[in-house]
Amino acid sequence: MPDTISFARGAPSPDLIPVEAVREATAKALDTDWQKALSYGVGIGHPGLCAWIAGRHGIDADQVMTTNGSLEAGAMLFRHLLEPGDRVVVEQPSYDRTLLLLEQLGVEFVPVALEEDGIDVDAIEKALESGPIKLAHIIPNFHNPAGCTLSGAKRQRLVALAAEHDFTIFEDDPYRELPFGEDPPATMLSIDEADKVIHASSFSKTVSPGVRTGYLAGPVGLIAGLAKVANENYISPNMLSGSLVLELCQSGVLDENIAKVKVALQERRDALVSALARHIPEAGFVLPGGGYFLWADLAESRDTVELAKKAKDAGAPFIPGTDFMLEGGSNSLRFSFASVPPEHMDEGIARIASCL
Ligand SMILES: Cc1ncc(COP(=O)(O)O)c(C=O)c1O
Repeated sequence: MPDTISFARGAPSPDLIPVEAVREATAKALDTDWQKALSYGVGIGHPGLCAWIAGRHGIDADQVMTTNGSLEAGAMLFRHLLEPGDRVVVEQPSYDRTLLLLEQLGVEFVPVALEEDGIDVDAIEKALESGPIKLAHIIPNFHNPAGCTLSGAKRQRLVALAAEHDFTIFEDDPYRELPFGEDPPATMLSIDEADKVIHASSFSKTVSPGVRTGYLAGPVGLIAGLAKVANENYISPNMLSGSLVLELCQSGVLDENIAKVKVALQERRDALVSALARHIPEAGFVLPGGGYFLWADLAESRDTVELAKKAKDAGAPFIPGTDFMLEGGSNSLRFSFASVPPEHMDEGIARIASCL
């Protein structure tokens, strides 16, 4: 067994990265598309990739821009739309990096709890009674870190609320293509008729995180504004990455890889669930229907910050729940199952259990 079995990083283990396919796609991109791949581009990035993504979502190409990963997309959107003091709905728990970005901007957080079927929409309605909301950050599918998926009915209500109360929904959706069973409900982007939804996704989880290719899809005017910001800041996103990702998309290799990765991830989730039943039966969780993460609540008396330190020393690091919460979370933790091959899962969980 390896010295370290890490549940900490939201990244695939190396065996899930399609290195051969990326090598071939890069060679092809440099053969047939080298002039675009090796030149400065414009703010939207590779136009061919924008068009392909638009086709995948059934929207127009001028509704899409590519970015260097979807975190950059979110960061740019936040800086473009938000002023200090603006009220921003964040899910609790939520992705730690976006929480940090929003905190740096000095927004007023409106924390809203997650339920089994996603954010508590009643609580958002209530928050609207005490003042306008500028933006709601929503991770709709196979949530990072909570593992839950927003129901279709709640998507409809959220989009209607955004139209009625004039706030933007940032639909942060890098896991959509990784369901283990049925597909998740339609994107909020596809339901929106009032230009209130901006959707972000990425090829980090379907190709590899190192290609750093993500995208934004949304209202034409907002995309044009953000593409201008992108161009002023960094001219264009990485064009070689855009070109090789486009090659993977067009050749069908992307879909083949998604099919493989989903099977491997489901096997990992199942191995994690069995290991938890065996070694940490007190762990309560919503079974993730896809993606990378499982969020576990332990007995109230547990302190997962302390536990994380011990587990790191025992060779099985994880991130404690407090990192994903504005307050609380001290008896919860996030397991990334994407990073652990199934044959190491039981040993990894046994190491954490031995620290309890
Ligand atoms: C919800 C969410 N948004 C955004 C990202 C950023 O991904 P990337 O910048 O690699 O596309 C992640 C990565 O884990 C994530 O979980």
